[in-house]
Amino acid sequence: MADPILVTGGTGRLGPALVSRLAAAGNAVRVLSRVPSPKEWRFQGDLLTGEGLEAALDGVGTVVHCATSNGRKDVDITRNLIRAAARAGRPHLCYASIVGVDRVNLPYYRVKRACERLVEHSGLPWTIQRTTQFHELVVWICAVQRRLPVILVPRGVDLQPVDAGEVAARLTGLAGAPPSGRVPDMGGPEIRPLADLARACARSRSLRRPVAPVPMAGFGMRGFREGAHLTPGHADGRITFDQFLAA
Ligand SMILES: NC(=O)c1ccc[n+]([C@@H]2O[C@H](COP(=O)([O-])OP(=O)(O)OC[C@H]3O[C@@H](n4cnc5c(N)ncnc54)[C@H](OP(=O)(O)O)[C@@H]3O)[C@@H](O)[C@H]2O)c1
Repeated sequence: MADPILVTGGTGRLGPALVSRLAAAGNAVRVLSRVPSPKEWRFQGDLLTGEGLEAALDGVGTVVHCATSNGRKDVDITRNLIRAAARAGRPHLCYASIVGVDRVNLPYYRVKRACERLVEHSGLPWTIQRTTQFHELVVWICAVQRRLPVILVPRGVDLQPVDAGEVAARLTGLAGAPPSGRVPDMGGPEIRPLADLARACARSRSLRRPVAPVPMAGFGMRGFREGAHLTPGHADGRITFDQFLAA
């Protein structure tokens, strides 16, 4: 069997789908998590402190880096992972990034671009896959506003949501291939106004609240309004948002 593959973020939204696909493809898979677990393939560790990284990376041939703090700490997390990986035998580093990180001027997007740069200059063999937002993000936008009488969304913004399972399948292929650098973006099958998606989500969950598109200012929102986070030429996903909701 080939060297094991370590998945960071293996307990998040994307991670479990990735872990099951990697395992189904015959790989020995390890998951790094801060949360202790009795499962022998789970390695307890913290990318912020560096605790547990040496053991988790020992003998690993590929790391698929999906861990995120959803904020600024991603830079420290990624730097620590790269340092530990460089000491551990220079595995292939595959990074899950987001379409438009170099064009949307939002803090999280700037952080993701900074992480991409760290990967690119890491001295490790690397692959970066950018994708559009997962379907779950729209559900989260609706759920997080459950105490409001309306569901607020930014006016004039489209989304191209993609199925996390299909992203996992793409990453599984990349993890098994030679390091490929920046590979073509991946997006969902359709581009729809975020307001429409939120309405579909509310209907499917029997939420009786109206969706209210509101003007939102700021450079980041301009990038979204201009579609910098979309990839119409790479609408590779097959599972639509409605199919995702129905499932
Ligand atoms: N969500 C989207 O719409 C979307 C779209 C495109 C790209 N992406 C990218 O895809 C990747 C995965 O996203 P996701 O939505 O699946 O993330 P998520 O659900 O927020 O999961 C975050 C993961 O990061 C791990 N983590 C956080 N801090 C850590 C630390 N200090 N040490 C070790 N692990 C840590 C968590 O593990 P424990 O809590 O178990 O430690 C958890 O598994 C991210 O890089 C994200 O930017 C996401």
